[in-house]
Amino acid sequence: MRTPIIAGNWKLNKTIDEALAFVRDLKPALSKAANVEIILAPPFTALSVLAEALTDSPVLLAGQNCYPEQGAFTGEISPRLLRDAGCDAVILGHSERRQLFGETGEFINRKIRAALKEELQVIFCVGETLRERQSNQTFKVLEEQLCEGLTDLDGTGMARLVVAYEPVWAIGTGQTASSEQAQEAHQFIRNLLASLFDRVVADNTRILYGGSVTPNNIAGLMAQPDIDGALVGGASLQAESFLQIAEFGKG
Ligand code: 13P
Repeated sequence: MRTPIIAGNWKLNKTIDEALAFVRDLKPALSKAANVEIILAPPFTALSVLAEALTDSPVLLAGQNCYPEQGAFTGEISPRLLRDAGCDAVILGHSERRQLFGETGEFINRKIRAALKEELQVIFCVGETLRERQSNQTFKVLEEQLCEGLTDLDGTGMARLVVAYEPVWAIGTGQTASSEQAQEAHQFIRNLLASLFDRVVADNTRILYGGSVTPNNIAGLMAQPDIDGALVGGASLQAESFLQIAEFGKG
């Protein structure tokens, strides 16, 4: 019912040539990953060349961030310009943005609403730190981040929104959440969506897991009823490991 998504977040990696080489390796093998929506989020500088390189493929492109306005905002990128560069989607609220660049829930909500207005699909990231998990604050933090980020959204907006649960302690650490830990958080998020919106919205919203996903742990994660795909960092940088993840580890 919910088409799985495997999304690669390249973060601040890959020149234009490296991005093109990745796509050259990926494209011939794409047919192996059927019934999965594949999204790549390269750095801004590689977006338009990748859009051209991917024109005859089903792979979608995402920006890694955006600013909610147009105009005199030196150094920023708007949803409209992401669309213009060939993006279908944008990642918002990533923990690196929250922690390293001080993004607040209110600011992320403005970005989400601006991106949805431009008809971009939004991959909205939430997740607790290790300290928050250890002090039993996980659900409280997830609820706060979701309530703030989804303020003033309706069912139409939610139809274009994907949630990514990315526990901060699992990002780039090699320490994946266990399938059970991830499922528990995903189920909590889905139930919260049902109370914020309704059961139909909750059942239709895809919830991705992110944090040290590899070809070895993807199958266990995908076997969970509320895990609808993955947002992959490190293992998305090589076409081979990214493809294995898109095949849920079967490759
Ligand atoms: P890693 O897969 O490198 O842990 O990164 C996850 C992530 O932050 C994806 O957005």
